Amino acid sequence: MHPECKIISTGRLLVFEGIDGAGKTTQLQFSAQWLRESGYQVTTLREPTDGPYGQKLRQSAISGRLSPEDERDLFVLDRRWNVETNITPALARGDIVLLDRYYFSSIAYQGARGLDLEDIRRRNEAVAPAPDLVLIFDLVPEIAVLRIRQTRGEELNLFEKVDYLKRVRDIFLSLSDPFIVLVDASQSEKAVLDEVKTAIVKVLPPQ
Ligand code: TYD
Repeated sequence: MHPECKIISTGRLLVFEGIDGAGKTTQLQFSAQWLRESGYQVTTLREPTDGPYGQKLRQSAISGRLSPEDERDLFVLDRRWNVETNITPALARGDIVLLDRYYFSSIAYQGARGLDLEDIRRRNEAVAPAPDLVLIFDLVPEIAVLRIRQTRGEELNLFEKVDYLKRVRDIFLSLSDPFIVLVDASQSEKAVLDEVKTAIVKVLPPQ
């Protein structure tokens, strides 16, 4: 979006990021409800999407992992599809778009598989508009994995998973874009939501 258009547009792109189990999806749902009750028109989206490339990505998670390069490229294709099909039209309508994961997940997750972080960023910024806010829900992987096992009943390869998520978390923590706000996700849901609301209020359009 052209910077001058942003000034007059009421559309806002708010991104929820963090390692698996940090609680971002729950906080996104709480935030959507709160914003709707406050009178905003809200669109919620997620990546990987349910579109053609997103389905491929979900399938690959079940049938065997892709190479880091193929995974990186498929996420870019899925993201470009999401931007064209969902994100840009919603922003043009003036909606508040709440997005569950965006290209910061690609930098962190595909970066943790050994790919160059700046290269991942460049490939993504070529197709994806900059967000107004990125909330990074931060939690130590040991606790995040416990939460996944307790609430979703999913079994994980604990050692591999924690080890990988530690690298993912370190990359998330190394990001320093001006629109990033770090949220301590080890607090109660209510305390986390208070921090989320405080950050969101600062970037909302005047009503
Ligand atoms: P997740 O948000 O956990 O989806 P769901 O709750 O539907 O399972 O995302 C699935 C996985 O995809 C997650 O482990 C992170 C990974 N991922 C990447 O590796 N790169 C990306 O760019 C994105 C968006 C997600």
